[in-house]
This record gives sequence, structure tokens and C-alpha cells, in this order.
Amino acid sequence: MAQPITTDQPDRAAPPAARSVARDFLLARLGSLFAILPLGVWSVNHLWNQFAASNGAAAWEASVEGHQSTAGAFVVFVLVLGPLLWHTVWGISRMFRTRPNTDLSRLSNIRYWLQRLSATGLLLFLGAHLWLAWFQPRFIGGHAEPFTGLAHEMHFHGPTLAVYLAGTLGIAYHLANGLWSFSMGWGLVVSKSGLAWMERISMVVFVALLAIGWAAVYALYSAGLNT
Ligand code: HEM
Repeated sequence: MAQPITTDQPDRAAPPAARSVARDFLLARLGSLFAILPLGVWSVNHLWNQFAASNGAAAWEASVEGHQSTAGAFVVFVLVLGPLLWHTVWGISRMFRTRPNTDLSRLSNIRYWLQRLSATGLLLFLGAHLWLAWFQPRFIGGHAEPFTGLAHEMHFHGPTLAVYLAGTLGIAYHLANGLWSFSMGWGLVVSKSGLAWMERISMVVFVALLAIGWAAVYALYSAGLNT
């Protein structure tokens, strides 16, 4: 005999449980996705733009700070700082929720710790960098950071140079190793040999990013001699 239809019958066309599982999955994964797009891509481009330092102040300011208008600053805010904030909150919650394997004889466990160490370093570096190089000059000083000031500090103030060298080392490691965990987390690479290959690729990416980052710091350091 047919059962009476009641209002508490589940909607078979779109089971609510499945929908909320999909929503929770996507929300949890957005923190990971934003780390590559737009953050990772933007960070590499930002480092690359610093090379303009070798062509003088005007070239550097056009390359690094080209978006002078309020609309431009707003776009940067939405496209870069929004995802950065999201990823940072996601990352900090991952740090508290995930449990490490303390056997440090395995490279993957050391990499797990280094990912969290570089994340903590980046949090401090990005906080200082965003305040000193972006927010303070632009919104309190009324203009973007002048090239001569930065290049001068880089050449003649040891702590500034050290902080930028450490910050670029941190981002190179965090992004390169993150590429490996991202491909695993999203199921892009699943086999044992695929993961071993991804490990090698992320090592090459680390060296390439470090070379770009330190060469960018060197370009600013050299330009500082004439300021
Ligand atoms: C421009 C800045 C940053 C970039 C480009 C970046 C990039 C990445 C990438 C690509 C991943 C791998 C994602 C995955 O495995 O799915 C990752 C993981 C991670 N990020 Fe970031 N990140 C940045 C800043 C930060 C900051 C400021 C924090 C905060 C403390 C942070 C914390 C973490 C943590 C804890 C993980 C590891 C999560 C896990 O394996 O469970 N990141 N990041």
C-alpha cells in the first residue's frame, strides 16, 4: 500500500545532506584554492616586477605601483588581500586541527613542519610588509612608497635587507611545497610515483622562486647605492 506523502518527506531531487556536504567541502577547499589562484600567481608576478629596479625609480614605480588610483587599490584589496585573509584564517585553523607525525627521520614530516614554520614567518613578514610598504605610505602618507626610500633602506639598513631575504625565502618554500600538497589534496596527483615526481617538481620550483626572490632583493639593493 502506498505511504501517505507528508511534509517531512526528504526531497529526493536534491538531498539536503549531499548539498551541505558539497558546500562544506567547497568552503574548506577555498582556502587551499585561493593560495594558488590568485595568491601564488600574484606573488610570483610581484617578485618578478621588482626587477624593474635595475631600470631606475620611474620604471620600478610604474611596474610595482602602477595601480595608483583608488579604484586600482580597491581591485588589489578584493583580488589579493581578500584571498590572503581567507587563506590565512584557513591556514591558522589547519595548524590547530592537524596533528603532526613527530618522526623527523622522514623528509615528509620535516616538510610538514617547515610548511608551518614558513607560514608563521610569512604571517609576521606580510603583516610588517603590508603595513610599511602599502598601507602606511598610501593611506596615511597619501602616496605610494617612494622607490628611493626602499632602495636606500635595502642597501644601508642591514635589518631591512635581512627581513626581505628571509621573507622571500619563506614565500619560496611555502609556495613550492604548497604546490605539492595542493596537487595531492585536490587529487591531481595520486599515485606513489606521481607524488615522487611532484616532490622533485616542487624542489625545482623552490629553487626557481628563491632565485627570483633573491635576485629581486639584489636589484633593489644595487639600486640603493645611488640614493
Ligand atoms: C602570499 C602568501 C601565501 C601564499 C602564496 C600561500 C600559499 C600556500 C599554498 C599553495 C599552500 C598549499 C595549499 C594546499 O595544500 O592545499 C599553503 C598551505 C598552507 N598555508 Fe599558505 N600561503 C601564503 C600565506 C600564508 C599565511 C600568512 C599563513 C598563515 C599563517 C599560511 C598558512 C598555511 C598553512 C598552515 C598551510 C598548510 C595547510 C596544510 O597542509 O594543512 N599561508 N599556502
